Amino acid sequence: MLEPSIRQETRHRGLTLIVAATAHDAALTAARIIQGIVNEADRRHVKATLGLATGKTPQAIYAELVRAHRDERISFRHVVTYNLDEYYPISPRDPLSYRTYMHRHLFAQVDLPPESAHVLDGSVPPAFADEACQFFDRWIDADGGLDLQLLGIGRNGHIGFNEPEPHRSVAEFAALPSRKVTLDVVTRADAAADFGGNLDAVPKYALTVGPRVILAARRIVMVALGSSKARIVARALTEDPTTEVPASLLQLPEVAPRVTWILDPDAASLLPDLT
Ligand code: F6R
Repeated sequence: MLEPSIRQETRHRGLTLIVAATAHDAALTAARIIQGIVNEADRRHVKATLGLATGKTPQAIYAELVRAHRDERISFRHVVTYNLDEYYPISPRDPLSYRTYMHRHLFAQVDLPPESAHVLDGSVPPAFADEACQFFDRWIDADGGLDLQLLGIGRNGHIGFNEPEPHRSVAEFAALPSRKVTLDVVTRADAAADFGGNLDAVPKYALTVGPRVILAARRIVMVALGSSKARIVARALTEDPTTEVPASLLQLPEVAPRVTWILDPDAASLLPDLT
């Protein structure tokens, strides 16, 4: 098992900030944290509840978990997963749905029981969408909350698909439940490449787990890679918590001790020297 190379690990505003030597090392660092939780659950025969993300960032993390399952016999039989979000409307069977993404990158390649993998259903009728999200929150609560939430950051600072909502106070935003949301223009533009470069093909809405559940996770791992994230990473880590940059809420004093940011050098490039 390869150990990741870490360039810097510091405490910053109450959270842990790791700058890995490369993007691959950042993915390995996140994978090792997840493996620790999965192994511990397997050893003790207890459940591990993971909140998972999609997008480009976690792909190398999932590839490493799949490798560890194959080569080191890491078992997911005690794991329960809840994905952060799903486009809306979209069929779970659509090749571009997050359900399909998870199936491809993780679910079909490890021994996670199929009934333990939960992804919000982008095909629920519109009148039921918010209620379906509220049920998702209740399932997560009934499973004892999340042991770990894996996050990526949007270029506008979103976490899950909780887009900036500057008209809300931080307290109000932090308490938001899972719900149907309208996707931000930045988010849709960034997703267009996956939809054949056609912005009109990108769904206008999404179902997302809300900040209430995300921020309550017993461990939160945020991974950001590449120079396109450098500006928003610097804002999220150096500005006071603001609903203009949802990821900045990870600094809240009651949340920060449970948070680890993992960056590659490009994503960290606009941070002031934090040592
Ligand atoms: C995906 C999600 C989003 C992404 C974010 C970064 O499930 O919740 O918040 O994590 O948009 O996406 P990538 O990794 O593609 O840059």
